[in-house]
Amino acid sequence: MSKVLRDKASAAEQPDYVLEARDVSKHFTVRGPLGRTSVVRAVEDATVRLKPGQILALVGESGSGKTTLARMLARFHEPTQGEIVLRGEPVSGNRRARRAYHSEVQLIFQDPFGSLNPLHRVRYNLDRALRLHQPQLTATGREQRLTELLERVSLTPAAEFAAKFPHELSGGQRQRVVIARALAVEPKVLLGDEPISMLDVSIRLEMLNLLQRLRTEDGLALLYITHDIASARYLCDEIAVMYAGQMVESGPKEEVIASPQHPYTKLLIESSPDPERGVGDREALFAGADELGEPPSLIDPPTGCRFHPRCPFAMRECIDETPPRTELGEGHWATCWLHVKGRAGELAETTHAAAAAARRETMQGAW
Ligand SMILES: Nc1ncnc2c1ncn2[C@@H]1O[C@H](COP(=O)(O)OP(=O)(O)OP(=O)(O)O)[C@@H](O)[C@H]1O
Ligand code: SF4
Ligand SMILES: [Mg+2]
Repeated sequence: MSKVLRDKASAAEQPDYVLEARDVSKHFTVRGPLGRTSVVRAVEDATVRLKPGQILALVGESGSGKTTLARMLARFHEPTQGEIVLRGEPVSGNRRARRAYHSEVQLIFQDPFGSLNPLHRVRYNLDRALRLHQPQLTATGREQRLTELLERVSLTPAAEFAAKFPHELSGGQRQRVVIARALAVEPKVLLGDEPISMLDVSIRLEMLNLLQRLRTEDGLALLYITHDIASARYLCDEIAVMYAGQMVESGPKEEVIASPQHPYTKLLIESSPDPERGVGDREALFAGADELGEPPSLIDPPTGCRFHPRCPFAMRECIDETPPRTELGEGHWATCWLHVKGRAGELAETTHAAAAAARRETMQGAW
């Protein structure tokens, strides 16, 4: 097939993504104690694609760049490099375009209390979003919509909840108000930055079911940021894994969880609490990672593969050269030299802990 025909064919096969971050990077300039400036490479060359009605989980330990990536997708940060693309169109930066963008893409933060104006009742918090994004509605129309929204997130009787101040609500009820406010603009995409992590364990499942329902009923695309593999497994279709500002693996959730193809993903999964025990906490999840030392500095990240100082499978190439991305089929890919070197089978043959112990023994032998 000629190149032109091949390009046309692949364009026709392109799935219809509602929101994409294409090769985005975000660098922050920070000032140190002696006034010297440094650059924090918070996100580097990350690509994320969301289809309508799809839930993609973004997982990775603290400081891996998840929030920074979500804030670029929400246009609260401009990418240093790369572009954000909404329904195939790169987004532009003027104010009007930004408002139009936010009527399609909404970000839900971890802390529902911080997201609501504490001086105003729920009614005001929702009405403000409706006035801004649905200017065609009359006062009666807004009141009707407000009731619908509160009912949608199971805050009933709606009139009672509309009259409350944020401090009169439980954490779960506040997060429902935040979700109702996001829905007020009738978005196509919700970006949830650890939306359940500050909620009581007993209501987390309810919140996950609410998000699941919104996806099914409204065809919303959802980026679900979490530390917690168990909730990602429960909710999402696909998982993308970030390490030290870079995407290291992505694919269908069952495949990624049953057969991780990057040592870092393997570590996350093996150290995550058993799904049968429900949603676990981040300390338990990253206990295994901590044994391997601190996450790397993003000011002076490790050369080659950024995971190499903590990776029990590391080899020479890993220190010197960035691993290429290997496509593994069905949308599953990973960036790890093991695939290039024909050693990927080792990932299935051992546990991370056993590989780390074997590596320690070899190193001691070498001394
Ligand atoms: N505005 C900023 N200025 C300077 N550095 C920043 C800024 N925002 C984030 N960073 C740095 O970028 C890196 C990634 O941070 P980010 O908050 O995106 O990580 P995260 O994966 O969301 O972590 P967590 O799980 O703790 O929420 C961190 O090193 C952080 O300190
Ligand atoms: S590239 Fe090397 S250091 Fe990085 S994860 Fe793979 S084996 Fe480990
Ligand atoms: Mg974060």
